[in-house]
Amino acid sequence: MRRNTISDIRKMKEAGEPIAMLTVYDYASALIAERAGLPILLVGDSLGMVMHGHDTTLPVRVRDMIAHARMVMQGSRKALVVVDMPFLSYGTVEEALRNARRLMQEGGGQALKLEGGAEIAPIVRRLTEMGVPVMGHLGLTPQSQHQLGLRVQARDEAAARKLLADARALQEAGAFAVVLEVIPQELAELVSRELSIPTIGIGAGLGCDGQVQVWHDLLGLFEHKPPRHARRYAEIGAEMEKAVRHYAEDVAARRFPTVAQSASMTPEVLEKIEK
Ligand code: KIV
Ligand code: NA
Repeated sequence: MRRNTISDIRKMKEAGEPIAMLTVYDYASALIAERAGLPILLVGDSLGMVMHGHDTTLPVRVRDMIAHARMVMQGSRKALVVVDMPFLSYGTVEEALRNARRLMQEGGGQALKLEGGAEIAPIVRRLTEMGVPVMGHLGLTPQSQHQLGLRVQARDEAAARKLLADARALQEAGAFAVVLEVIPQELAELVSRELSIPTIGIGAGLGCDGQVQVWHDLLGLFEHKPPRHARRYAEIGAEMEKAVRHYAEDVAARRFPTVAQSASMTPEVLEKIEK
């Protein structure tokens, strides 16, 4: 079975077929996402928060992305796997090329995602010229959260015009798709219409060509409320807690293990060693 390619994803836009992308960070989850038939998986630097327990994505290093990309590649077969370039790993063309080489050679994955607009267009162009498919990321770009905050982006005219220009610049530079995060749905719809490459929204409304969500938000792995843009499709965290609690109670009450989980020896052997 061959993996999806960026041209398969482009064709989905052309066919008007919505693109479901989800973050995945490890082997077991990749197996599940693969069975569910998702066409694109994102090894997002949100792993800094949901897998490593940091407050932001900023502490995530290239080597962290490599480690998680390897796990996801082991568990997936058909999906296109996109890997985030972490904070300050693509500040210059040289640095971007060096880190892209590490991410793709050591981590695997078929494409890289970079946050930013026209200002990173030369980097996007050079990466794509060298054979690296690039996904853009505009709007609420979490690597810039100390500048932007975490509120809805591109609400006023100037900021909305800039976002549209940035999206065009990324397409022009060779990006194969662009994530639009937490921007007004009207603007996301306009950008999606204007671009020939697919837009993948998160908190950007139904007008995008696809959607992306974070694994832990979708599955309800944490107790706290997920962000406004998320929908909890399950309460897996609560289910896991119930199971773990049940196990601990069974151990305490000597209900686990039973003969079903245990092996035995013959009475003759037992007799011999007891002497
Ligand atoms: O890191 C991430 O999870 C992301 C998506 C939310 C787009 O960049
Ligand atoms: Na990210």
